[in-house]
Amino acid sequence: MKRYKDIAGDGGSNIAGQVEAQQGRLKQRLESVRAIVAIVSGKGGVGKSTLTASLACCFALDGWRVGVLDADLNGPTQAKVLGVRGRRLLIAAGVVEPPSTDLGVKVLSMDLLLPTDAAPLTWDAPVQGEAHTWRGAMEANVIREFLADTNWGALDLLLLDLPPGTDRLTTIASLVPTLSGIVVVTIPSDVSHLVVRRSITVAANTRAPVLGLVENMAGLFAGPDAAKLAADAGIPFLGSVPFDRAIAVAGDQGDPFVATAPERPAAMALRRIAEGIRTALGPRPA
Ligand SMILES: Nc1ncnc2c1ncn2[C@@H]1O[C@H](COP(=O)(O)OP(=O)(O)OP(=O)(O)O)[C@@H](O)[C@H]1O
Ligand SMILES: [Mg+2]
Repeated sequence: MKRYKDIAGDGGSNIAGQVEAQQGRLKQRLESVRAIVAIVSGKGGVGKSTLTASLACCFALDGWRVGVLDADLNGPTQAKVLGVRGRRLLIAAGVVEPPSTDLGVKVLSMDLLLPTDAAPLTWDAPVQGEAHTWRGAMEANVIREFLADTNWGALDLLLLDLPPGTDRLTTIASLVPTLSGIVVVTIPSDVSHLVVRRSITVAANTRAPVLGLVENMAGLFAGPDAAKLAADAGIPFLGSVPFDRAIAVAGDQGDPFVATAPERPAAMALRRIAEGIRTALGPRPA
């Protein structure tokens, strides 16, 4: 076995060169994307993916060209929630053509690449027992590839649906040349607020503007005040989305809830939150 001292430079693999080339493609690809917004929460299951999909639909309904990148590689749900599960991915010259929803939202998710329903994402590592130690680097590579090698075309907005955990945002923020904003999601429970407070700190430590906090599943518990959490943290409060079983049903069916049930208070709340994000991002691109 070679030891690190025996390897001159990178041992001939030119990994640095490959990453640099990809970083160049990524920068070029994202030049035609006007705004990139990450939806985050340290807490799992609070509705990040549902909110991402719903916001994408809100913006698409307003005529924006929207893409969604499912950055949750281990628990990808965007293909399902946005109704493009099972679509064949067209790949030509190393570039992936993302499927579009009926509203025209372009979607890329690991779910579209995994061979079967039951197949988890696994990593090859030099020593399989140590695959977990490589996970962070490999995940970052895949997301870089998703960003660089997907034919997003010209977009007004690319939404990134992050997995739970406070650390992932830092990785994403370092991959994307300019992250236009971060939206943090909580639910009304002390446990969620405990974790989300830390997520806000992580978000504030990136260079990207924190566009605000969204409270999801409002009314489900008699929990703490999300507007106060936002005020205490010094970030805008974007609004509350009520708990509504119809959202979960629509998500399971891949229906765009805000379009199919626009009269429901939860759909109206989502439209208002999208409006708040639009205002925070600045005027609509020409
Ligand atoms: N406002 C709501 N009312 C009712 N159900 C909701 C609401 N928001 C989300 N849900 C449901 O809650 C479940 C979890 O939502 P979702 O998968 O979006 O959470 P998540 O934060 O992305 O989870 P993870 O941390 O695993 O990525 C889903 O079944 C979704 O349909
Ligand atoms: Mg999710």
